[in-house]
Amino acid sequence: MSQQRVLTGITTTGTPHLGNYVGAIRPAIAASEREDAQSFYFLADFHALIKSQDAELVHQSTREIAATWLALGLNTDKAIFYRQSDVPEIPELCWLLTCMAAKGLMNRAHAYKAAVAANLEAGEDPDYGITMGLYSYPVLMAADILMFNANEVPVGKDQIQHVEMARDIAARFNHHYGDHFVLPEARVDDHVSVLQGLDGRKMSKSYNNTIPLFLPEKKLKKHINKIKTNLLEPGDPKDPDDSTVFQIWRAFATPEQTRQMREQFAQGIAWGEAKKQLFELVNGQLGEARERYEALLNNPEHVEEVLQQGAAKARAYSQPLLEKLRHAVGIRPLG
Ligand code: TRP
Repeated sequence: MSQQRVLTGITTTGTPHLGNYVGAIRPAIAASEREDAQSFYFLADFHALIKSQDAELVHQSTREIAATWLALGLNTDKAIFYRQSDVPEIPELCWLLTCMAAKGLMNRAHAYKAAVAANLEAGEDPDYGITMGLYSYPVLMAADILMFNANEVPVGKDQIQHVEMARDIAARFNHHYGDHFVLPEARVDDHVSVLQGLDGRKMSKSYNNTIPLFLPEKKLKKHINKIKTNLLEPGDPKDPDDSTVFQIWRAFATPEQTRQMREQFAQGIAWGEAKKQLFELVNGQLGEARERYEALLNNPEHVEEVLQQGAAKARAYSQPLLEKLRHAVGIRPLG
C-alpha cells in the first residue's frame, strides 16, 4: 500500500487543555510514528482570524500551541509541522477553489447556519456580525487539505461536514480541470475520549470549564480540586461512570490502574482522595513535558526555526502542485 497522507490543523485561538491533549494531540503524535503514513500537522492561523480579532491572543496562542506539540515529543523529522501562513500556496489555492465552490454549499455549513439562527433568535438582521471569513471558511479548510492531497483527516465530529465539503469541491475541480486531487476522508476516532470539563460538560474553551495542559503544579492541583462532584460522603460507594474525576483518570491511566480506581469508587473513596490521586497521575505524566514546554516558551527563536524548517518541507509539496494547478486553470506564462 502506498503511504497515506494524514493531515490536520489546529486553530490558534487558545491555550491547549487536557481535552485537546487527550482527544487530539496525543493520538496525533502517536499516529505520526506510523510507518505507513506521512503526517502533516499545522497551526491554522488564518483560521484563527475568523474567530478572534485579538492580535496578541492569536500570536500568543500560536506560540503556545507550537511549544506544546514540540514539548510533547512530536518528531519533526517525521511529521511535517508548519504554520499555515508560511505556505503562501494555500491562500492562492483557496481562491482557485472559491471559484469552484457552490454558494449553495456554503449556505449549508453548520457554523454559518448557527450564526444566522442566533441572529434571528435575537431579532437581528440574519447577516449581523457575519464576515466573509466565517462564510467562506470551509473553502479555506478545503485548500488546507487538498494542497497536500491528504487522504485522511482526523477531526472532531463538528468538522466532518467541512471535510465532506472539501471532497465536493475537489470533485468539481477534478471534473473541470482533470484529476488533480485525492478525495479526502474525515476520520473520527471513537476510541479516543472526549474529556469532560470542570462542570461535567464537554471540556471546551467556549464553556470556560477547561484544565489547561501545562499549568504549574499548584494551579493544576487547584483546578483538579474544582472538578464538580456530588455530595456523597467518604465511605459511600460512588458511581465511576457518573464521575468526571473517574473519566479523566481513565484517560491517563493504564487499564490496570483504571480497574483499581473503579474498585476504590465502589469502596467509597473520598472525593478529596480521588482528586489527590488524579493530580498525582496527571502531574506525573505531564511533568517532564511541562519543563520542556516552559523552556520552549522562553526560546521562541528556536520554535520559529523549527516552524520555518517545517514550512520548507511543506512547500516542497505545495509549490509544484500549485504550479500544475495554475497551468490547469489557464494561468500560464505567455512565451
Ligand atoms: N477547522 C478546524 C477546527 O476548528 C481546524 C482546521 C483548519 C483543520 N484547517 C483544517 C482541521 C484542515 C483539519 C484539516 O478544528
